Amino acid sequence: MNMSAELFGQIDQIMQALKQEKAENEQQLEAFRIRYVGSKNIIKALFGEIKNVENDRKKEFGQRLNELKQAAENRFEELKTLIENAQSGNNKPDIDLTAPAGDLKTGARHPVSIVMQRIIRIFERIGFSVAEEREIEDDWHNFTAMNTPEDHPARDMQDTFYLKDSSNLLLRTHTSSVQARVMTTQKPPIRIIAPGRVYRNETISSRSHCQFHQIEGLYIDKKVSFADLKQTLLYFAREMYGPDTEIRLRPSYFPFTEPSAEMDVYWGLKNEDDYRITKGTGWLEILGCGMVDPQVLLNCGIDPEEYSGFAFGMGIERQAMLQYKITDIRQIFENDLRFLRQFSGII
Ligand code: PHE
Repeated sequence: MNMSAELFGQIDQIMQALKQEKAENEQQLEAFRIRYVGSKNIIKALFGEIKNVENDRKKEFGQRLNELKQAAENRFEELKTLIENAQSGNNKPDIDLTAPAGDLKTGARHPVSIVMQRIIRIFERIGFSVAEEREIEDDWHNFTAMNTPEDHPARDMQDTFYLKDSSNLLLRTHTSSVQARVMTTQKPPIRIIAPGRVYRNETISSRSHCQFHQIEGLYIDKKVSFADLKQTLLYFAREMYGPDTEIRLRPSYFPFTEPSAEMDVYWGLKNEDDYRITKGTGWLEILGCGMVDPQVLLNCGIDPEEYSGFAFGMGIERQAMLQYKITDIRQIFENDLRFLRQFSGII
């Protein structure tokens, strides 16, 4: 090997070594300084060898040496900063890993969601599937299809929020609009429950609100009878309120069902609260229901000669209020964390 090649090789070796050097304390840093950047450093010695390099490679040798010198200085600065930082504590983690864990705040389900989920699960077990639909609805799906034409007095039952500049678009006043949505797009047999938010133009008080939640149920098939409706509701009431729960059906009126009924569950009259909640009767009104009016089937393109069905709809807030002893419905919509946190851990 000629002299030049050997000298170039030395440059490479020093460059490699330099990159791997570490300094964990000041002594080691000083050793690095003496070896690579001090007045008698090993790179300087190589500068003295330039005379032994072949003439046509002298320039390249000089450049490589300068690079090496620069790399040594840079590495020295780097190591120096690392040690300084370690001394001033800069690179210590700014959290104390030995401190005991803080109080972890987990989220909580909203009481309305809890009750809604329970009801959905109960109906899923007997083959109902969830249908979710829009809250901004058109007049046809919310009213007309549901047998409530424009001049029908039943429209007054539900004070409606219409969208500005529109006589056609509104915030749905009940989840019954989902019945029309599903019946016009699916073929029987249909077995759905539709949970969701509904709106009515009502004065807000501790007992009523302009927004609340309902769950709608709809079952359409051949030969569906009122007995099927009653049995389905009894099953629901016993799953929801306990195996001994009694129900009663009172005749009622809805434009989209015929016959129509309201279902009460027996709540009991054990204490003063029970008297207040049930107005002294012991019975609690839970939902509206009935056989789907043949006209509604026709409106939605289903042949009432071939198919029949039942529907029911219930409010969620009242059930949540009863279950969790919430006395003011407004709390449900205010999102006060002190209120919401009480439900953590309940699924
Ligand atoms: N939509 C009715 C209400 O909001 C409830 C209902 C649904 C009644 C389905 C009968 C059948 O009060």
